[in-house]
Amino acid sequence: MKAVILIGGKGTRLRPLTCDAPKPLLPVVNRPFLEYQFEILRRHGIREVRLCTSYRPADFKNAFGNGRRLGMKLSYIHEKEPLGTGGAVRNASEGLNDTFLVLNGDVLNTLDITSFLKFHRKNRAEASLALTRVKDPTLYGLVETAEDGRVKRFLEKPSWDEIVTNTINAGAYLFEPGVMKLIPPGVPHSLERSLFPQLLQGRSRMYGYVTPGYWIDIGTVEKYLQVHLDILGGATPFPVPASKLRPGLALGRKVKLGKNLTPAADGGKAALGDGGTVGDFARFSGRVCVGPNGRIGKGASLEDCVVLAGARIGDGAQLKRCVVGPDCVIGANSIVSEGSALAGGSEVRPFSLL
Ligand code: GDD
Ligand code: MG
Repeated sequence: MKAVILIGGKGTRLRPLTCDAPKPLLPVVNRPFLEYQFEILRRHGIREVRLCTSYRPADFKNAFGNGRRLGMKLSYIHEKEPLGTGGAVRNASEGLNDTFLVLNGDVLNTLDITSFLKFHRKNRAEASLALTRVKDPTLYGLVETAEDGRVKRFLEKPSWDEIVTNTINAGAYLFEPGVMKLIPPGVPHSLERSLFPQLLQGRSRMYGYVTPGYWIDIGTVEKYLQVHLDILGGATPFPVPASKLRPGLALGRKVKLGKNLTPAADGGKAALGDGGTVGDFARFSGRVCVGPNGRIGKGASLEDCVVLAGARIGDGAQLKRCVVGPDCVIGANSIVSEGSALAGGSEVRPFSLL
């Protein structure tokens, strides 16, 4: 089976981080996010993937090329003007004459693609949607199903008074190629707002498959931080990359550690990327990720935060529940607090309060 991944969005809710990189390439625990999706696809024997690009297409080609390094066979389909999720899938479906898988390029979960396909076949479905349960369905596509799994209603970004269930569209679909005839070619189109309601109206066989286990859409700064905390805290089946492990620390290659560090306690963990340095008396708590060549100053304290590649955190600075973009310089004794997200290359002078 072949797969299509939608990666053309501008990632506006993840600005400023997506000003310099598309969302699916942002590092998640020091690996480009899409590599997690490739890993899941490979586990289920899928290697051939069509990537639907629009925003910053060259970045993807530079990162993955034809995919051989990753054991994948990648091709790129570019939209000059974004065609929406429907237009993108319609484009990518050219020449496909068998059931195919579509993934949103910003979701991390442990979808069992093999069981999903069995479910699709058993129901003789024309379209199957993976579903997950969330606390706040207003941010997603609400999917109401009958007891046998048949989809009764699809409502994108419902308001609170429209919530009738907690199952939402998890951003993974199986389609029969015939369904694509309903999408007009070359014009913007939405799967969620047009195709799915249209399939329901026409009484097409559309089924919802509830996927158990971990699921997250990394599309906001809060969720981008959260996926790091979850991976570092062991809440997902994805390992923390490390060439050396110490209590509370997962170290990349050539990391220089100062004296008298306080590592995270109580199951917390700090992942330090290749070539990083940590000054004497620095303190880590909770779950912290520092990108390659990050520099943490003497006596700095970091709690539940993400520091991207090449950023420098000054002596005595304090960071909590924030994301520091690549190559930022945080002056000594500054405080960067909850919810902050600093654009790549930002410079913050000593003693700043953010
Ligand atoms: N090629 C291309 N062209 N890709 C696009 C375009 C486009 O015009 N617009 C969006 N995408 C890609 C994004 O890059 C992302 O990977 C995916 O499509 C979904 O877009 P988002 O902007 O992240 O949508 P969302 O998170 O608000 O909602 C979608 O995902 C939810 C699950 O995470 C919907 O599918 C919801 O129904 C769903 O619940
Ligand atoms: Mg999304």
